[in-house]
Amino acid sequence: IISSTTIILFTMSSQGSGKDVSTSSGMEDSIHSFKAADLVIELSQTHKAKPDLTNLVFGTVFSDHMLTIEWTNAGGWQKPHIKPFGNLSLHPARSAMLYAVQLFEGMKAYRGADDKVRLFRPMLNMNHMAKSAEGLPAAFDRAELVECIRRLVQVYLEWLPQSDSASLYIRPNSLGTERSLGVKKPSRALLYVILSPVGPFFSTGAKPVSLWADSKIHQRGTGDCKMGGNYGASIYAQHEAVDYGCQQVLWLYGDDHQITEVGTMNMFLFWNNEKGEEELATPPLDGIILPGITRQSILELTRKWGEFKVCERYLTMADLCCALKEGRVKEMFGSVTACVVSPVGRILYQGENLHIPCQEDFPQLASRLMKELNDVQVRWSQTLIQCLFHVGSTSFNSTRVCPVRHV
Ligand SMILES: Cc1ncc(COP(=O)(O)O)c(C=O)c1O
Repeated sequence: IISSTTIILFTMSSQGSGKDVSTSSGMEDSIHSFKAADLVIELSQTHKAKPDLTNLVFGTVFSDHMLTIEWTNAGGWQKPHIKPFGNLSLHPARSAMLYAVQLFEGMKAYRGADDKVRLFRPMLNMNHMAKSAEGLPAAFDRAELVECIRRLVQVYLEWLPQSDSASLYIRPNSLGTERSLGVKKPSRALLYVILSPVGPFFSTGAKPVSLWADSKIHQRGTGDCKMGGNYGASIYAQHEAVDYGCQQVLWLYGDDHQITEVGTMNMFLFWNNEKGEEELATPPLDGIILPGITRQSILELTRKWGEFKVCERYLTMADLCCALKEGRVKEMFGSVTACVVSPVGRILYQGENLHIPCQEDFPQLASRLMKELNDVQVRWSQTLIQCLFHVGSTSFNSTRVCPVRHV
């Protein structure tokens, strides 16, 4: 039952703009949160075979266990449970289903070259999740949820191989479970976390993506939150992109067609700007843009390099078209936890194909970022990050047949 594997939560260098880990004391003292110390762990009696990570389609295979925590206005948070993975039983009028009262996060665990398992910047995800949940009741202590997630990952340790390309995708979700047709703040909620092992994202080699630049659908609202409604509403445009022979949507905003995000990724442009300065630019966090953890990590990393200007600024399609005409664009790419960076090769805009320079399939800066972030995640490059705390580990023993319950 006890293995030598350790799960570590880690952050980028403290020189970066974000301090990843806060303690549960202080501002969260007033929150009546669930506590990881109350975890009830019920292990599955049957186990799936270890997945073949080389052929996995992203997000289609799940671990044997999940974490669930229920909340009601009257009773507060119940004890967190780690239990066998299974379907949820939902009342047909649950507000998550009727009105998309739902939010989620996406984060990852990696097994490093030293055989230790690490969660990548989990507190940034918790901060973002707490922000997405601001309008909803059921506040929780972020450090307590990280600890519950750490315990869930521990159950899965054996299944997570040491690999530069394999990792464990962690999906925390929160659903409004109000049983009513009224549109209102839910008086019941379910927070649950599922795990999905993932293999190499670019299994057949990375190919730059093509984008359909869409100015019709994007609207100000909850773009900076990971709320279900944002994603459901985007699917129509995604289908349209495919009809136009493109893979993703480039979301444009406003009359001047500001470039905002690429599919479900933050967007970066590496170019010589209007003043001739070499610059890595990404739109600022003004309420429309999702404050991605990968985006923040790329900004911190490239600012640390100090080799070119790094800027959070507005970019319009007119800026991009002009720069392309003048040969000032070097690279364009999206950033997201799932694949880290994804180069852009073509944009279909107002009937014209704009070709983004991509001499190689994975252009220079995108490749370097991919490698350096991978070094942080898997090789735990000491130059970039500092460990905040080590925690002991328990790994699930696959030969065990009886479920155990720790109360
Ligand atoms: C709309 C959107 N933008 C950007 C991102 C990238 O965020 P992260 O780097 O935290 O994965 C995501 C991730 O799911 C997203 O949904």
